[in-house]
Amino acid sequence: MTDSDFSPDPLVDPAAMRKQYQAAGLDEKDLAAHPMDQFSRWFEDAARAALHGTLYEPNAMVVSTADAAGRPSSRTVLMKHYDTDGFVFYTNYDSRKARELAGNPYISLLFPWHAIARQVIVTGVARRTGRDETAAYFRSRPHGSQLGAWASAQSSVLSSRDELDATYEELDARYPEGEQVPVPPHWGGFRIAPETVEFWQGRESRLHDRLRYVAQPDGAWDVERLSP
Ligand SMILES: Cc1cc2nc3c(=O)[nH]c(=O)nc-3n(C[C@H](O)[C@H](O)[C@H](O)COP(=O)(O)O)c2cc1C
Repeated sequence: MTDSDFSPDPLVDPAAMRKQYQAAGLDEKDLAAHPMDQFSRWFEDAARAALHGTLYEPNAMVVSTADAAGRPSSRTVLMKHYDTDGFVFYTNYDSRKARELAGNPYISLLFPWHAIARQVIVTGVARRTGRDETAAYFRSRPHGSQLGAWASAQSSVLSSRDELDATYEELDARYPEGEQVPVPPHWGGFRIAPETVEFWQGRESRLHDRLRYVAQPDGAWDVERLSP
């Protein structure tokens, strides 16, 4: 590709997009001792920004996995739970991401909270959630989403949109609204136990704050400051 392939309107030219971040800084002395407590503080800020309409889907995170040859792939999923043990999302166990995790459980999560000049980046290890935990969450989902989990062979190639819609309609006839939908065996959660958690706060002149928690063998967490 050459420069002449695109001649963008200056208003939408990515090279000209530059925002100054005015936010207050992130200081070591203000950090919680445990990264999940610090995450909880920042998640509440993001969720509050979402209530005011300045940020969408605060629980959306970019999940990156790698295949056996080390080739990475990324996609957005919704974080559905977090606690001191880590982060949980739900997906199809036959999907590309789940197949990659079966061979290589190392994973990266990224919360892109651009609207509040923050991002959180997690690296860690993914393990499947227990079936009871999966079932409890599955039952809390709307009926249509429960059927969707059965209808979609996620990441496989479809012959057409009609194929997907026809499968959904068959399932809707078999399990009408009000009838309990069984938990699909190919569907469930992953819990990510963090090994590092970086909190990034945008500052003026690109002199951002980056504080990274690193898990120690004895279970404690060290914090290091990274150059922006
Ligand atoms: C905002 C948003 C939220 C999403 N949430 C989920 C989710 O929670 N679980 C999921 O499996 N896919 C979710 N998806 C779809 C994934 O991005 C992706 O298309 C799908 O999981 C298949 O990924 P894979 O083929 O790389 O495994 C979401 C997509 C978007 C844009």
